[in-house]
Amino acid sequence: MPYYIIVLGTAGSGKTTLTSMLMSYLDSHQMDVATVNLDPAVEDLPYNPDVDIREWVDAREVMAKQGLGPNGALIASVDMLALNISELKDQVDSLRSNYVIIDTPGQLEIFAFRDSGPVVLRTIIGDSKAVSLFLIDGLYAVKPSNLFSAMLLSASTFFRIKYPQINVFTKIDLLSEAEYSGLLSMIESPEELASRVVEDAEANLMWSSEEVYSLAEKLYTFESVSVSNNSGQGFDDLYASIQRVVAGGEDYF
Ligand code: GTP
Repeated sequence: MPYYIIVLGTAGSGKTTLTSMLMSYLDSHQMDVATVNLDPAVEDLPYNPDVDIREWVDAREVMAKQGLGPNGALIASVDMLALNISELKDQVDSLRSNYVIIDTPGQLEIFAFRDSGPVVLRTIIGDSKAVSLFLIDGLYAVKPSNLFSAMLLSASTFFRIKYPQINVFTKIDLLSEAEYSGLLSMIESPEELASRVVEDAEANLMWSSEEVYSLAEKLYTFESVSVSNNSGQGFDDLYASIQRVVAGGEDYF
């Protein structure tokens, strides 16, 4: 049975680019890897998906035919896929790869916070093992209050998707050395994150400092790794984290 890697994150966080880089990474380490594109609105992909939702639904066509706006068309497309999931499931089942990477739609809320997205995932994955990668734009996360809110969103997404999750900070190649070390110190320590959030004058906190500390601790249930989808920096760590979750540390290489 394959291991499924679900790539989630807000619009522009780097899902498609990471899918492509992770595929190349696993491939270059002689791993058998396949990709599934679940974004019905994407125009150009930097990889060639083995299974593509656009074979069944195209958000642009739905938009034109049903007179919907972009978000309405995305919602309708994912709902339509959920109604026709068995064909897609059959195609995924025929892949016979060790890893199947699932790239999800641009707008996280349309996929994770409606019924169809989790249903589609559960149908595809069945009893196999899976891990969610929750992508957080590293440039955005350098600010403590942004990082805190992104980690809350990650926890909220886990609450919906329910597979073991790893927070993946992307675009670290765009950070200065000082920004990167500041980000790492917050990623590595809930105390550091909490104290910087409490100090952040722009944070609009509805909690006391103690509550922020205790929440920050809970948010560190997930492992975090930081990567560049351009240079491949951090992908050894990402692979090791994925292995810890899906294979209990067992290594295919
Ligand atoms: P949508 O699905 O369209 O919402 O976006 P996405 O989450 O799939 O993000 P995508 O991979 O399209 O990346 C968004 C932009 O960020 C693109 O211009 C990418 O080239 C860029 N990008 C993604 N990851 C990285 C990274 O690690 N480093 C740099 N420098 N750019 C990145």
